[in-house]
Amino acid sequence: MSKKRGILLSFEGIEGTGKSTQTRRLCKYLKDKGISYTLLREPGSSVIGEQIRDILLFSKGKLSYFAETLLFIVARDQLRRQKIETALEKKDVVILDRYADATIAYQGYGSGVDINLINDLNNRAMGDAIADVTILFDVDPPIGLVRSGRNDRFEKRKMDFHERVRRGYLKIAKANPKRIKIINASEDVASIQDKVREIFLSVFKPRKVRQH
Ligand code: TYD
Repeated sequence: MSKKRGILLSFEGIEGTGKSTQTRRLCKYLKDKGISYTLLREPGSSVIGEQIRDILLFSKGKLSYFAETLLFIVARDQLRRQKIETALEKKDVVILDRYADATIAYQGYGSGVDINLINDLNNRAMGDAIADVTILFDVDPPIGLVRSGRNDRFEKRKMDFHERVRRGYLKIAKANPKRIKIINASEDVASIQDKVREIFLSVFKPRKVRQH
């Protein structure tokens, strides 16, 4: 991938942090400013990725945690090769609703899959498409789960699972303070969006207008 590529922003957090509302608002802001962007979600946003998403979220079949991990990795690899790289080459701002940290937090810290192994698999699946900045929305799991109100395979898991995922995310953030910025997701939507934009602007360098 060429050095002068677009920027990659990932959004992370447990269920019901308002992550999707905030990504949509950021996209609207980018559109209004005439900044070209690509919004993608994980798992999904590629044909195979969406099929894998159905299995992961709604299949009645029993999946081991390891098999679950591998499916997330397959979806990531497909997405990176089919969508992320092209969008970055186009110099788009690429916004990812979840990315590699989710597998470390959910499958690693949440479900006990070997974190070193997940890191290796993530590195293979991401290639050079590593997030420039990651925004972690942090909220207490009971608040998040009530807000989310959905009922897929992950939301059905017990509260201590969600507590482990949250603590996992905070550990990942502590280990990557330059890349990961934490936002308290219990604040109101507008002030959270202000912070999201501030973080975005700290990494976004608009193309210089040539002086004559
Ligand atoms: P989604 O509907 O995208 O949830 P949300 O709106 O909260 O992002 O469902 C994705 C679910 O998959 C979510 O519960 C988190 C989980 N997940 C993992 O367990 N590991 C992963 O690597 C990813 C990307 C998601």
